[in-house]
Amino acid sequence: MIIKRFKTIITLIALSSSFCMGQAPKKPMAQLINDEFKFAVDQYKVLANNIPAGLTPQSYANGKSINHDIKWWCSGFYSGSLWYLYEQTKDASIKKEAEEALKVIEPNQTYTGNHDLGFMMYCSFGNAYRLTGKPEYKAVVQRSAESLASRYRPSIKSIQSWDKNRYWQCPVIIDNMMNLEMMNWVSDHGGSPKYKEIAISHSNTTLKNHFRDDFSSFHVIDYNLETGAIIKKATWQGAANCSAWSRGQGWALYGFTMMYRFTKDATYLKQAKGIAHFILNHPNLPADKIPFWDFDAQGIPFTKRDASAGALIASALLELGQFTSGQEKEEFKSAAETMIYSLASPAYRAKLGENGGFLLMHSTGAYPLNSEIDVPLVYADYYYLEALLRYKKWYL
Ligand code: GLY
Repeated sequence: MIIKRFKTIITLIALSSSFCMGQAPKKPMAQLINDEFKFAVDQYKVLANNIPAGLTPQSYANGKSINHDIKWWCSGFYSGSLWYLYEQTKDASIKKEAEEALKVIEPNQTYTGNHDLGFMMYCSFGNAYRLTGKPEYKAVVQRSAESLASRYRPSIKSIQSWDKNRYWQCPVIIDNMMNLEMMNWVSDHGGSPKYKEIAISHSNTTLKNHFRDDFSSFHVIDYNLETGAIIKKATWQGAANCSAWSRGQGWALYGFTMMYRFTKDATYLKQAKGIAHFILNHPNLPADKIPFWDFDAQGIPFTKRDASAGALIASALLELGQFTSGQEKEEFKSAAETMIYSLASPAYRAKLGENGGFLLMHSTGAYPLNSEIDVPLVYADYYYLEALLRYKKWYL
């Protein structure tokens, strides 16, 4: 027991201080990005062999691949990652696999059972359209936006995240900001303006109700659908109602940065910067800048990390840097660099053929639900690849 605890301490110290001690891979970023994509193409060929027909990959635990049906919120990340791989490498077999993966999830375009259509259909078909220009892919994105719009509730001026159940009446979670990219995009590309109006209305409600004075976010706001009143401010995946669940802070950062991209509303930029400073100045952010699963988790520094939060925050900071200047821009870029170097290091990045074919280790899905703790997660890979591509596009 004492030896096990000692080993944990040593591992944590190594994770947190590897950069100060010069142990991290300090190859030039251009080379790192090339190497990571080359590795990812080979690794995703391993992953492809672990996916039963009709399912989409999610994780890998206890030597077993975990795959889900297409209604699971993560069903679009696999094809999205494949499109990112294709974008960088032009590997024909990856493109073929990406096209096949799209066919699996295409029926989701008329799904209205949750708010995750943006994750599912924009990360996948949105990227496919961006890279191929095929009108049939655009049509799927447009249809998906219409499905998502069916969950907009005028009484609360938000898109309802989950259906009513024994815990919630009309829950809206901070993650929902991520689904707005698709809505903005469709309006800006020939679709009805109503999708962008929904995105703006939802963002303004989120701005009003989800945040605390320090720019940290609650996870779930539950509303009374008749009156529009707030019933409670709570969490589902965080450590406590009053805590800052790390991935939620990442969704908020990414979401408000993206909303600024589409609207140029300075309120959104101010919010995104505030969230970024909350994250980067937090005393519980480790030296390698990969957050623990909750900034207020009990047991820090002996609790689990969330590499998915690190990857998505890195990607968001790179975009936020595009809208800032001087020292602030440098701060966001430098933090994202540290995150990328951390994720690319052996502390987080798997070896070829291991980790069920996923790229990154050490993500945490839902710690309080005892679900997906310290495992690979398909969306960690997606945002990692996105961060690498964004770095290459904007900073090299
Ligand atoms: N959107 C669900 C999650 O972040 O776990």
